[in-house]
Amino acid sequence: MSSKYALGYSEREIKRLHFQSSIIEPITIRMLRSCGISRGQNVLDIGSGTGCVSRLASIMVGSTGSVTGIEQSCSAINIANRDKKDNISYICGKFEEVAFNKKFDVVVGRAVLLFQDKIHLFLEKAANLVKPGGYLAFHEIDDSRQFHSYPPVGLWDRTMAELLIRLKKVCPQYDISRRFVKVFDEVGISIPNITYEIPVAGGRAEKLCFWAVETLCSLSENPESILFSDGFKTNSKSLLYSLQNEIYKNKSQVEFLGQSCAWVKIK
Ligand SMILES: C[S@@+](CC[C@H](N)C(=O)[O-])C[C@H]1O[C@@H](n2cnc3c(N)ncnc32)[C@H](O)[C@@H]1O
Repeated sequence: MSSKYALGYSEREIKRLHFQSSIIEPITIRMLRSCGISRGQNVLDIGSGTGCVSRLASIMVGSTGSVTGIEQSCSAINIANRDKKDNISYICGKFEEVAFNKKFDVVVGRAVLLFQDKIHLFLEKAANLVKPGGYLAFHEIDDSRQFHSYPPVGLWDRTMAELLIRLKKVCPQYDISRRFVKVFDEVGISIPNITYEIPVAGGRAEKLCFWAVETLCSLSENPESILFSDGFKTNSKSLLYSLQNEIYKNKSQVEFLGQSCAWVKIK
């Protein structure tokens, strides 16, 4: 069985995910280290996508450890398999529907809670799969916080506002980064440790502009003709060029989607 991922798995979206991963990887690594991830451990990566987190974890647990990636999109797993390490195995299926015959030292997910309709059931199952003394850990992207640019860059603020509108439509838990404590508590999991980082850049802010435009493209029918909700029409190349120029001209610094991690030891 294969379910659909809202942003699809075009070659462009795969490149975007890998680009995004290269920027946010240090945050995921810090979270996994805080969970005491070490050689020989067994890790479950929920919503493993094209395998970015699984590959990270596989290095951290080494050849004596193992990583299981569970992913609902079989085409994403085919892509992950292009660069699979020996200690990784992928399962194609919806996490809620797959039965696991063992527990794990660390159960991790990145940018996956955002997409869950039944988040309580999802979290409960994830927590039950952690060995006593092991860790449950999520790195999520905050799709609820209003962006800022200072001095203000109108085009950046407008683009980010459009991005939030589109992300909210496809992410039932778009604000999960701000509700970790509440939702964990509702499921009977202890209060997690939480970090929140905001990517910020100035100059031409190349990386943030590219990340923003490509995310918008993955949420657009046709990246060569992007129609904003406020009627503004653009395309990916011209938007990228204008954003970089405006930010540079205004000597502004701009903020992007917040990166939030929550991790907790399971008793
Ligand atoms: C934004 S991608 C992130 C992929 C990867 N974790 C990363 O950080 O590169 C979210 C992934 O979670 C998968 N996913 C969402 N809900 C799922 C579920 N209930 N069971 C399995 N996979 C799921 C999607 O198909 C998608 O590949």
